[in-house]
Amino acid sequence: MAYRHFEFIEKHAWLLGILTAVMVSIGGLAEITPLFIMAQEVKPPEHVRPYDPLRLAGRDIYVREGCYLCHSQMIRALRFETQRYGSFSTADESVYDRPFQWGSKRTGPDLARAGGKYSDEWQHAHLMDPRSVVPESNMPGYPWLARAPIDADDIAARMRVLRRLGDPYTDADIASAAAALEGKTEMDALIAYLQGLGIANEPQATAGETP
Ligand code: HEC
Repeated sequence: MAYRHFEFIEKHAWLLGILTAVMVSIGGLAEITPLFIMAQEVKPPEHVRPYDPLRLAGRDIYVREGCYLCHSQMIRALRFETQRYGSFSTADESVYDRPFQWGSKRTGPDLARAGGKYSDEWQHAHLMDPRSVVPESNMPGYPWLARAPIDADDIAARMRVLRRLGDPYTDADIASAAAALEGKTEMDALIAYLQGLGIANEPQATAGETP
């Protein structure tokens, strides 16, 4: 009896297609729904504040310049990854990253824990001309960043948008943002962003603070 049902389904491609789609959807939902529910529950570590204005501006430059096309910021929980890059990434480290910069392309190394690995001077020289410090590098230089002042006008607006999305910026944080960018170049902002990566769980935790 049951066999005859199967035979009927298998001989009618449209029915087989519909039933296959139903089964795959159930499987998909079973996998995806818990992830969506969990995503709502990921909270930032207690001491971690959203990006300060300079690092926030630096992050936007990182995104604008497409650094993520060659660099991931997500250390997998695999031994050869943690030995090379440091402790594996956790979801709560990315709560203030919109959009997140996990990436999947590694032409260059992962940067999730790159903060403090080199001096500011090294970062500057490397971004001006990577081959001046790493002769075999195929990373492009970004010398114009050192000449570009940061556009401080829209930083407050960007922080207000992030606050609407849940970042706990205070009115005072937003009011003082433009002043914090006074006289800074895009290079300064990008280096500040890089130097904080992975330090005490980011984004604005001061160096040396323990989580
Ligand atoms: C075409 C691919 C490519 C792009 C785009 C790129 N990089 Fe790189 N990056 C590399 C490669 C390859 C290396 C390793 C060689 C070296 O150190 O230069 C590297 C190294 C680095 C390092 C040193 C990492 C370490 O642990 O030694 C930093 C920091 C870095 N890149 C930042 C950036 C930033 C910031 C941007 C965007 C402004 C950027 N990269 C864009 C390919 C790229």
